Amino acid sequence: MKIEFITNSAQETFDLGASLGKRVHSNSLIALHGELAVGKTTLIKGVAHAIGGINPDEINSPTFTFLNIYDGLKSFYHFDLYRMKGADQFLQMGFDEYFDAGGISCLEWAERIQAILPQRRIDIFLEHHGQSRKIIIESEHEEISF
Ligand SMILES: Nc1ncnc2c1ncn2[C@@H]1O[C@H](COP(=O)(O)OP(=O)(O)OP(=O)(O)O)[C@@H](O)[C@H]1O
Ligand SMILES: [Mg+2]
Repeated sequence: MKIEFITNSAQETFDLGASLGKRVHSNSLIALHGELAVGKTTLIKGVAHAIGGINPDEINSPTFTFLNIYDGLKSFYHFDLYRMKGADQFLQMGFDEYFDAGGISCLEWAERIQAILPQRRIDIFLEHHGQSRKIIIESEHEEISF
């Protein structure tokens, strides 16, 4: 599946994340791609909100620690790989174990570990589009309809 959206505010990006969050399941992996300040964390806050039991205001990019873990109704693994050197470092830190630990994983700057991203992932590509954002949600293995 591949669907394209335009969001005209941070709230709309959050809401899109929340509708995606209602459609994910244990071990879903959401890989976000897009430049600084394009809205990756905003969308992830929406996903976290939809999972339940997590306050989206507490979600911040773990830029220096790579991973924040939230215990909601499902476990939520929020990665920020901006400073990750590559897939080798990621594996060395044992982070791939979280992908099938039963929770939901969201990865900002997922392209840093492109070589080891599972095929079952949901890719999200965000781009600036004037004042708005173009957001493409794409997956080879998941059929998601909105
Ligand atoms: N349509 C929109 N969707 C998302 N964010 C928007 C939109 N319009 C404006 N914004 C603003 O853009 C900023 C997006 O910040 P956010 O932290 O979500 O980006 P990010 O991609 O996670 O950045 P970083 O790469 O630094 O982690 C926020 O200040 C938000 O209010
Ligand atoms: Mg961010």
